[in-house]
Amino acid sequence: MVNIPKGTKDVLPADSYRWQYIEGAARKIAARYALKEVRTPTFEHTELFNRGVGDTTDIVNKEMYTFLDKGGRSVTLKPEGTAGVARTFIENGMAGGVLPAKMYYLTPAFRYERPQAGRLREFHQFGVEFFGASAPEADAELILLVDSFLRELGISSLSLRLNSIGCKHCRPKSNEAPRDYFRPHLSELCETCRSRFEKNPLRMLDCKEEGCRQIAAGAPRILDYLCDDCASHFESLKAMLTENGVRYEIDPNIVRGLDYYSKTVFEFVSTAIGAQGTVCGGGRYDTLIENLGGSPTPAVGFAVGIERLILLMQNTGVPFGEEPTVTVYLAGMDEPSRKKAFAIAQELRRNGISAEIDLMGRSIKAQFKYAGKTGAKYVAVIGSNELENGVMSVKNMSTSTSETVAFPDAVKYFK
Ligand code: HAM
Repeated sequence: MVNIPKGTKDVLPADSYRWQYIEGAARKIAARYALKEVRTPTFEHTELFNRGVGDTTDIVNKEMYTFLDKGGRSVTLKPEGTAGVARTFIENGMAGGVLPAKMYYLTPAFRYERPQAGRLREFHQFGVEFFGASAPEADAELILLVDSFLRELGISSLSLRLNSIGCKHCRPKSNEAPRDYFRPHLSELCETCRSRFEKNPLRMLDCKEEGCRQIAAGAPRILDYLCDDCASHFESLKAMLTENGVRYEIDPNIVRGLDYYSKTVFEFVSTAIGAQGTVCGGGRYDTLIENLGGSPTPAVGFAVGIERLILLMQNTGVPFGEEPTVTVYLAGMDEPSRKKAFAIAQELRRNGISAEIDLMGRSIKAQFKYAGKTGAKYVAVIGSNELENGVMSVKNMSTSTSETVAFPDAVKYFK
């Protein structure tokens, strides 16, 4: 037999209600913030991610599922949602439409990473992107949206870590300070850090190697090198979060693993799901649209990893709503009764009531057992007596009480 590829997961029929619960909550919160859904292709031209996500990132250098299609074009399965959404924003001339353009997506994403708990090669994101708004209100609204989404799911164990990594005006200074700091330590740092020294020294701050982490702990804080505009943007954002009851922690080491960020960066982090504790990551990316060939457009967004969210809810005992079960199981004792059960089931379904009948030729006892196992709310039994009298005997499975219901009253009874 052919097995499932490493780092991917099936969502089994018994578990899919959990996904639907989270996706439903995501769509609900998106509607409340007046967002519309955007859907972009699963694969894009490789160049989009090289330019968009950035060629100093692990994602682009090591983790992309890139291949030549039969026409010899290099294409890549999307490693995240933002680059494709930015492409569609530019390609469809949305900058000339109503701004801000606010949209959300639920998408699979693909990264060739070493699989472990919370880290997969195919995973799923609920993401939101705002284009056109440069004000800190946009950053605040976005963070409030994540906060409300998590609250509504009943999750209270995540902490919000916040940082600002400045813009292209503060970058020369905010890059030079860590370079000066790391220069004497270069020989003690890992190869990745050394390769980032020239191109992107900020990323040296979040290296996961223990030796590098110890050195990075003493590095200067980017926050001390922000230009006036970035500093006041950050102050306003923090004030708005506080005014609206969102708790946060400033974490100067958050720089994020994608190249497009500027100013605000944030993560919602859990300690309950192991090493891969970041459930949501996001921030401002005011230069991405321009870098991809569009007219300069500020933007801010986030993505929540759905598998990590599910893991967190499971590990912390947060319920996923009620597992849906059928309303009525119609059991027929003999051939004519089974035919009647079949017809009534159809009538119930036409009227919006979920109903199930035996498809396996089971005895009445086995039909009852099946209905019990699958959690049917009612079992309606039809035998030759019932058929003659035009009724069925309905058992309420939670109270174990039974009633006789006439066939023409079935829809009214179960509605
Ligand atoms: P990211 O931090 O790379 O950001 O991913 C966002 C979330 O996706 C993570 O916090 C995590 O929950 C989930 N995730 C990432 N990689 C994996 C993996 N290998 N397995 C399971 N879950 C994973 C982005 O993707 C940005 N596009 C977010 C953004 C949107 N920034 C602005 N707009």
